[in-house]
Amino acid sequence: MEKKLKKLSKRVNYYLNSYISNFNSPVLIGPMKYGLFPGGKKIRSKIIFDVGKIFKVKNKDLLILAASVEAIHSYSLIHDDLPCMDDDKLRRGKPSTHVKFGESTAILAGNSLLTTAFEILSDKNFKIDDETKSRLINFLSRCSGQTGIAGGQYLDLSYEKKKVSLQKILNMELKKTGKLFEFCCVAPLIIKKNKKYLKSFSKIGKDIGLLFQIVDDLIDFKGKTKFAGKKTQKDIKKGKATIISLLGYENAVKYAFKLKQNIYSRLKKHNTNAQDLRETINFIMERNN
Ligand code: IPE
Ligand code: IPE
Ligand code: MG
Ligand code: MG
Ligand code: MG
Repeated sequence: MEKKLKKLSKRVNYYLNSYISNFNSPVLIGPMKYGLFPGGKKIRSKIIFDVGKIFKVKNKDLLILAASVEAIHSYSLIHDDLPCMDDDKLRRGKPSTHVKFGESTAILAGNSLLTTAFEILSDKNFKIDDETKSRLINFLSRCSGQTGIAGGQYLDLSYEKKKVSLQKILNMELKKTGKLFEFCCVAPLIIKKNKKYLKSFSKIGKDIGLLFQIVDDLIDFKGKTKFAGKKTQKDIKKGKATIISLLGYENAVKYAFKLKQNIYSRLKKHNTNAQDLRETINFIMERNN
């Protein structure tokens, strides 16, 4: 899996780098590239390609989707690390963007990466029909704004040091993490105009996102900074409301396995075509970073 992810990472980074290097004005390019490269695991890209494989979507189109999602994801991490949010100084094994360039530059580089995602999708080089393109842009907007990452991050911060119900924690995690994974699972179907499996893959995406966030919380709880590339054992210190803080470590692990089962049963009818996606889900559960 590591090899496959590395190969994919190279492709997505190459695309993003050529896209950004083509911008006319060099302002903010340095900090944007710092936040993007070499970057993280590219799990979201992998899921786009895995789902794309099930529905036979062209690799060229999948690459564009992946580049736009990774731009948004990197933006969200730059802002997540800011002193006014999680106040983290280490990201992806190096100093966070605001540590390296200062807060205002990190905010602006983050904003620019967010809009870069929509530039990439609306670019004329993305050769799909206009209606499909605007559906993708509309969906990705809803996964990023107050109904998605931004709204989820707001809830995450406002729940600090509070006792919060399971329902509220799940809703917060669904927004801050789940929605972008939902986009990864649904966007390839939007390209194929596949209505039959839209609902099912929307649910699969949200469940993968939840699963991903629970494992991220488990890594924070028990993992090592050396492997994670970011400081661990921080969520308890900050009083973050997580499934672990509410139900305990063992129950959080059980919850993750339940989610995996749900996803697997939805994938049953896709047989061997979904094998790559199953492998990625196993990797998500077994990772240490
Ligand atoms: C970390 O995401 C933030 C969460 C949503 C939990 P990743 O673990 O995918 O971060 P990178 O891209 O690999 O660094
Ligand atoms: C972040 O969740 C989710 C985002 C949308 C950025 P975390 O705050 O747990 O992510 P890490 O642990 O800092 O990567
Ligand atoms: Mg956070
Ligand atoms: Mg954080
Ligand atoms: Mg975390």
